[in-house]
Amino acid sequence: MDTAGIRLVSVSARFHHRVKGEVYAARDVSLDVRPGELLTLLGPSGCGKTTTLRMIAGFQKPSDGRIFIGERDVTQVMANDRDIGFVFQNYALFPHLNVYENVAYGLRVRRHGEAALGKAVGDVLAMVGLKGYERQMPHQLSGGEQQRVALARAIVIKPRVLLFDEPLSNLDAKLRVQMRGEIQHLQKTLGITTVYVTHDQEEAMAISDRIAVMNKGRIVQLGTADRLYRRPATVFVAGFIGRANLIDVTVLETGAGRAVIDIGGVTHVLNGAGEGLSAGARARAVLRPEAIALGQAGAAGAIPGVVRSRTYLGEKAEYVVEAGGQSLLVVRFEAENEHFAPGSAVGVRLPARDVQLLVGDEA
Ligand SMILES: Nc1ncnc2c1ncn2[C@@H]1O[C@H](COP(=O)(O)OP(=O)(O)OP(=O)(O)O)[C@@H](O)[C@H]1O
Ligand SMILES: [Mg+2]
Repeated sequence: MDTAGIRLVSVSARFHHRVKGEVYAARDVSLDVRPGELLTLLGPSGCGKTTTLRMIAGFQKPSDGRIFIGERDVTQVMANDRDIGFVFQNYALFPHLNVYENVAYGLRVRRHGEAALGKAVGDVLAMVGLKGYERQMPHQLSGGEQQRVALARAIVIKPRVLLFDEPLSNLDAKLRVQMRGEIQHLQKTLGITTVYVTHDQEEAMAISDRIAVMNKGRIVQLGTADRLYRRPATVFVAGFIGRANLIDVTVLETGAGRAVIDIGGVTHVLNGAGEGLSAGARARAVLRPEAIALGQAGAAGAIPGVVRSRTYLGEKAEYVVEAGGQSLLVVRFEAENEHFAPGSAVGVRLPARDVQLLVGDEA
């Protein structure tokens, strides 16, 4: 299939709001979606995901910036001339057409002959697991089945790019997990460049090649799920993707590609950190709950701490530990009789390679 990358160059969507005046639903968004990639726009409600997706689709004109699909500048091109497949949250099937005709619609508009059309519709219905459903009407289908029809309808026209806006949010939790696996499988099989919108971080991590985290109309960080989890660039990203401890630190020394910091009276050397910081500065570090290690009190190099609480959750236990004047969330995978009781003194270790130093006070 002929797929293409997507490029957004400083794209904005500006609206006039009666009370607030000028508002930006998307602001200065630049993005390169690689050919064949599944890239997710992830962020809280109102951050501009749908607006950005609608601009790629051509349903919404940008106020500024340019949009390319492959080499072609489509900024001024109408939606139906952009060669895209779009899957909506509410499926948007034609209620008076059966499954076959819903899927065939896009091909009829493109004046495909009846024979080629029959084969193409049959092929995609088989692909989404709906063989034998041709004569069913939309109201006779479950939500999951309707979403499969919407998916079939989007891919049957062999679009150059596929766009999804919260396609699973009307389904129950179990079906959501199943369908996201199917969408990912189909996307990889067809190799179509895909932009996927969700506010669900777990869904985003499960299916994406890369994730663009959005906040207040802007892309705040772009990377693989692993990268965003381990190396969040801002407090917002750290808190939006997984759970994080935000720790106040003092910078003792920087230079030569490393930073020496003090946390709770213990010195830590962070390699590949410290750019933009100078000695004496206060900074914040992000540390994931499962990266923190608890051991015997008084151990050399450990920060003295006290266990405030322990919650046993079966495969793991969650602790709140007071150390270095801060309250830390710690997740441990414990063997039998290996736990620390509330009130016990412990030694807290923060492995330097897992400490992510944040520069600037961007929220
Ligand atoms: N046509 C418009 N006129 C005025 N404001 C708009 C318009 N379209 C979107 N907005 C505003 O832009 C912001 C972003 O909206 P958008 O629908 O892109 O958010 P979203 O990230 O998709 O949120 P959700 O997760 O709730 O779907 C919102 O504050 C919204 O009210
Ligand atoms: Mg939306």
